[in-house]
Amino acid sequence: MSQSEPKPGRGSPVVRVEHVNLDYHKEKEPLPVLVDISMEAGRDELVAITGPSGCGKSTLLRIIAGLVRPSAGAVKVLDSEVKGPREDVAMVFQNFVLLPWRTALENVVFGLSSKKDLTGEQKRERAMQALDVAGLTGFENVYPGELSGGMKQRVGVARALATEPKVMLMDEPFSSLDDLTAERLRKETHSLLISPETSIQSVILVSHNVEEIIELADKVVILSGRPARVSGVLTVDLPRPRNKKSEEFFRWVDKVYSYLS
Ligand SMILES: Nc1ncnc2c1ncn2[C@@H]1O[C@H](COP(=O)(O)OP(=O)(O)O)[C@@H](O)[C@H]1O
Ligand SMILES: [Mg+2]
Repeated sequence: MSQSEPKPGRGSPVVRVEHVNLDYHKEKEPLPVLVDISMEAGRDELVAITGPSGCGKSTLLRIIAGLVRPSAGAVKVLDSEVKGPREDVAMVFQNFVLLPWRTALENVVFGLSSKKDLTGEQKRERAMQALDVAGLTGFENVYPGELSGGMKQRVGVARALATEPKVMLMDEPFSSLDDLTAERLRKETHSLLISPETSIQSVILVSHNVEEIIELADKVVILSGRPARVSGVLTVDLPRPRNKKSEEFFRWVDKVYSYLS
């Protein structure tokens, strides 16, 4: 998974959300969910989106992924407008749905179905590499039913990585895992972003876990309750690796809470 493009500087925009509005419709009445949302994720940045439950975080992520069209405004990835799902953007969900009758490897290969330019052998090769990066070497031929929650989530990550995306979108990816597994996967997620072994240029993480956000994010976008507007954007300048027991860490956690309450 080598980097073939020239590397622009760290922080140069990869994802741009520009004045996005979204209305759902309830009994034909428009129900505003997102109002004038603008945000950016830059090169080598991990940006967290947070806000109250039901405010529209998943909806915003689905708009960035091209799965939902905004009612107004636009999303650009590397300067081209998002008009539908695209190859350079991948998504990891909270509960990744794996096909139970396919092995870990076959599940990752299945995620490459749309890549008509790859031969079966090339797909397997890519999938093996992605499984390796996701920490699943030796588990290629195991069926989902025999994998723990954390391992299944790793398969989800491998499936995203195998598509060699430039942007990885993650919707509460750790919230259904036990603490230790979640912690391990959090650390690995940041490594994926900065690793030269992956194609990833930006990660956008939706989370309601403020400590998780301060552990991982370079920037936090805080949404208000419904309809959601951007109520704050904070640049977390804590050095890495971050000490979750330090005073500054808790100051940052408090700061985010103060925007949420
Ligand atoms: N397909 C849909 N049709 C109508 N309303 C929806 C749809 N999807 C989500 N909603 C509503 O939009 C709001 C935002 O949902 P969501 O983006 O899932 O919030 P969050 O991820 O922040 O919890 C919620 O009130 C939800 O009920
Ligand atoms: Mg959600």
